[in-house]
Amino acid sequence: MLKVGFIGWRGMVGSVLMARMRAENDFEGLDSEFFSTSNPGADGPELGGARRPLLDAHDINTLRRFDVLLSCQGGAYTKDVFPRLRSAGWGGLWIDAASALRMNDDAVLVLDPVNRPVIEAGLAQGLNTYCGANCTTSLMLMALAGLYRAGLVEWISTMTYQAASGAGARNMVELVRQMSSLADAASEPLNAPATDAMEIDRAVTERLRSPDLPTNEFGHPLAASLLPWIDRAVDGGQTREEWKGFVESNKILATEHPIPVDGQCVRVGAMRCHSQAFTIKLTRDVPVSDVEGLIAEAHPWTKVIDNRQQPSLTHLTPAAVTGTLDVPVGRIRKMKMGPEYLTAFSVGDQLLWGAAEPLRRMLTIYREHVGR
Ligand code: HSE
Repeated sequence: MLKVGFIGWRGMVGSVLMARMRAENDFEGLDSEFFSTSNPGADGPELGGARRPLLDAHDINTLRRFDVLLSCQGGAYTKDVFPRLRSAGWGGLWIDAASALRMNDDAVLVLDPVNRPVIEAGLAQGLNTYCGANCTTSLMLMALAGLYRAGLVEWISTMTYQAASGAGARNMVELVRQMSSLADAASEPLNAPATDAMEIDRAVTERLRSPDLPTNEFGHPLAASLLPWIDRAVDGGQTREEWKGFVESNKILATEHPIPVDGQCVRVGAMRCHSQAFTIKLTRDVPVSDVEGLIAEAHPWTKVIDNRQQPSLTHLTPAAVTGTLDVPVGRIRKMKMGPEYLTAFSVGDQLLWGAAEPLRRMLTIYREHVGR
């Protein structure tokens, strides 16, 4: 039996991974053990009616007994433990949600509906480090895989509307606390017999600018506002989130000639779905119906939403998509700039295809590869 160790399985991405693995019966036939960075020895999660004690996630000698280690613990843990584990001669498969190893030459970025051949080539070469990619980038490629595959993408500008979950679990909580605080601040005019929108606006604006609004995590109001900056600054005025779109999409696809991707990444008050508006420069003029066919047929999780009001408002929103594996793509049309300029809009759950799902599937692909 393949011996698989899970680290960071209790955090937000880890618990989505656990739920998906249980739903797909992935634990069947695996010898699974669970690690803890803070509480080794305590009871692990229940699997098949039994619980095993948690192992010490910092103990290299314990970690190196495993064929596969899957970490959702975060970049600081990876940077601390991974080099020591490899130096100790461990040659097992490392699957990681964090960004720490993504740009290493010997690391493969996993998103198998889009880059299964790249993953297969990595396994055939004996590469043993596989990382989930940036959530926004993965969701862009899930949406537009059909156009990339057909060689139709000359460049993409993507403007994002990113959910609170991308910033962390505590940020999701803070978003709802901010919403609640705003509702409290406006409760008097909200509940008055003659509701006055301007009174409500005054109360909300006053609370948005007051120290009473909880902002420990985001540092600023997000509810009833937005934040046009995600992650730290890198060169050229980009944020690191914007930089990842270009470097990671090209690494996922292993492109010979990099395809430019750039845009502005913005945090909005959605819970766990990232949305993106694309401007795509096509390599040639193709009819919209062909574009829709290519997008829809790329893989089973994408679907084209008719560019009409009701389907767009019903199916192309975080409210519709959250908690599902669907990646709807809609608002597809040619732009005024010319017949080679296409626009589209897409939504995806950043904890599923954006984080846990590619890792879960990588483990399955590896099991098929080694036949265990
Ligand atoms: N960096 C992303 C965000 C999440 O802040 O939304 C993970 O890729």
